[in-house]
Amino acid sequence: MELIDGKKVADAIKQEIAAEVSAMTSRGEKQPHLAAILVGHDGGSETYVAHKVKACEQCGFRSTVIRYEDDVTESELLDAIARLNADPDVDGFIVQLPLPRHIDEQRIIEAIDYRKDVDGFHPVNVGRMSIGLPCFVSATPQGIVELLRRYDIDTRGAHCVVLGRSNIVGKPVAQLMMQKALPGDATVTVCHSRTKNIKDYLLSADIIIAALGSPGFVTADMVKPGAVIIDVGTTRVPSTETKSGFRLKGDVDFDAVAPLCSYITPVPGGVGPMTIVSLMKNTLLAAQHKIYD
Ligand code: GUN
Repeated sequence: MELIDGKKVADAIKQEIAAEVSAMTSRGEKQPHLAAILVGHDGGSETYVAHKVKACEQCGFRSTVIRYEDDVTESELLDAIARLNADPDVDGFIVQLPLPRHIDEQRIIEAIDYRKDVDGFHPVNVGRMSIGLPCFVSATPQGIVELLRRYDIDTRGAHCVVLGRSNIVGKPVAQLMMQKALPGDATVTVCHSRTKNIKDYLLSADIIIAALGSPGFVTADMVKPGAVIIDVGTTRVPSTETKSGFRLKGDVDFDAVAPLCSYITPVPGGVGPMTIVSLMKNTLLAAQHKIYD
């Protein structure tokens, strides 16, 4: 069994990005600039945005966080998005999700100029990804594919079972894995909360991508020996062993499942750091106008 070290790969990619940014600035080009809109004080969202800001520093990017309270109106958010769309210094921006219930998330996403949509959530980017055109690919699926690439895991003809059908992870990662590309070229099954006999699908999987948000869901009796497991789950569970009083738990019962696998990602330190670095990569591509003019 080999542990897939997402943190190590992410650190290496951040160094590659930082080197490219210094080359850009030494040519007199501007620093890439990522902005983030953060609404309210959700613990997870605060942490993610803090990690994104730190990653920007490590990559040599400028970053701006625009904060609103939970009672922000949809029109205030739409105005903020319009300003970022029009700001020539901002190369890309994100609106950290989830948003409060009174805000129409889809409307917010569609207000973002797709050329600055470094999260890859806008329908233009989602659609272009699904037909294999250049686009901003959302960060978690891209991070997963990059891990498979860097660990030289052969996905051709493999049976890949994706657990979860979210717009952020399940659907796009299924698209990427079935794409005529490497990594890709897999036979993909998407299972979700309504799937009957999930275990039967899992037992035939060469690659399992678990993105349900259900801690410890994948147990040893569901895994074929030699399978590759990518665990996207990051549920906060109470813990007496950490300062914060919680720890992150993945969708896979790691201790029981890991000995069976050929490769497995830990939580934390697997997919999480790759998600952040993929956002950095998209921001660099936006600053360099490599996807759209
Ligand atoms: N919430 C959970 N994941 C993400 C992400 O990748 N981007 C944004 N904007 N919000 C999220």
